[in-house]
Amino acid sequence: MARIYVTCRIFEDEIERLRSAEHDVRMRGEEGPIARDELLRRVTDVDALICLLSDVIDAQVMAAGHNLRIIANLGVGYDNIDVHAARERGIVVTNTPGALTETTADLTFALLLAAARRIVEADEYVRAERFLGWELLQEHLGSDVFGKTLGIVGMGRIGTAVARRGHLGFGMNILYHNRHRSLDAEQELNARSVSFDELLTESDFICVHTPLTQETHHLFNRKAFRMMKDNAIIVNVARGPVVDEDALVWALETGEIAGAGIDVYENEPKVHPGLLKLKERVVLAPHLGSATGKTRRRMAKIAVDNVLSVLSGREPLDPVI
Ligand code: DGY
Repeated sequence: MARIYVTCRIFEDEIERLRSAEHDVRMRGEEGPIARDELLRRVTDVDALICLLSDVIDAQVMAAGHNLRIIANLGVGYDNIDVHAARERGIVVTNTPGALTETTADLTFALLLAAARRIVEADEYVRAERFLGWELLQEHLGSDVFGKTLGIVGMGRIGTAVARRGHLGFGMNILYHNRHRSLDAEQELNARSVSFDELLTESDFICVHTPLTQETHHLFNRKAFRMMKDNAIIVNVARGPVVDEDALVWALETGEIAGAGIDVYENEPKVHPGLLKLKERVVLAPHLGSATGKTRRRMAKIAVDNVLSVLSGREPLDPVI
C-alpha cells in the first residue's frame, strides 16, 4: 500500500481506482488552490502526488515529501514543477499530453472568433435590450477571419490543431514560429516557418501556444506589440507570463493592436485591472483551455494511470523527464 495525496477535487471513480489498488488516498475536498503550508504538511509521508498546474512543486516541496516517487500533474504544461529538482531526487514527473489538444484548440478558436466578431459585447448589448433593429452601420462591426493570416507561436500539438482549424476551416494562411520546423504542418497546411519578427509583422491573428520557459517569459512585450499590425488580435491559451500584461494593456489602450482573447494570466487567478476595464474586442476566460467534461475526465484518468504504473514498479506512461 502506498500513500497518495491529491491537491484538488477529482472524479470519484478515479479515486476508487486508486483505492481498489489498495492505496491510501487523501483528497483535498475543498475548492480553490491549496495553501503553501498545507501542501508542505500534506506531502510529508506520501509516495505520490496528484497536483494541479497552479500548485508550485519546487525543491522545498520535494524535500518535505521525502518519500515521493511520482508527481502527476493534471495538465500538459508543467512549468509549475521544478523538473531538475525532481530529476536529482529520482522523482518521476508526468503530465497529460494529447488528452486536451483538440479541446484547447477549440477554445483558442472560440476566443479568436469572439474577439474578432465582438460576440461578448454583442451579447451584453442584446441583454440590455439595446438592439433596436438592423442597421448597415451597426455598432458591433468586427473583423473578418476567413482568408486572413494566422500566426502561431509554438507549433506543438495544440498549435498544429489550431492551424488545422484555421487553414482547413477558415481558409487562413498559416505562419508559424517554433524551435523546430514542422514538415507535416508545412505539407498538410501549407504552413510557413518564419522568424518571430516576421510573424509579428505579417499576422492578423496571433495564437500563443508555446510553453513557459526562461526564453518565452514576456516574449510578448511592448517591442513585440509595436511590431504587430494595428488590426491584429492576440489569443493566449498557453501561459500568462509569456505575455507581459502591462504591455498588453498598453497595446490595447493605445491601439497598437486591435484585440485579445485571453485564457491565462500572469498572476493567476488575479487578472490585470487594466484588462478587466477593456471590453471592445477583448474577451477573457478563466483558464478554460481543457475545460470540457470529457477532457477533464481523460486528464484525471491519465494522471491516475501514471500513478498506478509507477507505484506498481512499472514505467510511467507519460514522463516529462
Ligand atoms: C494545460 O494542461 O497545461 C492547460 O493549461 C490546461 O488548460
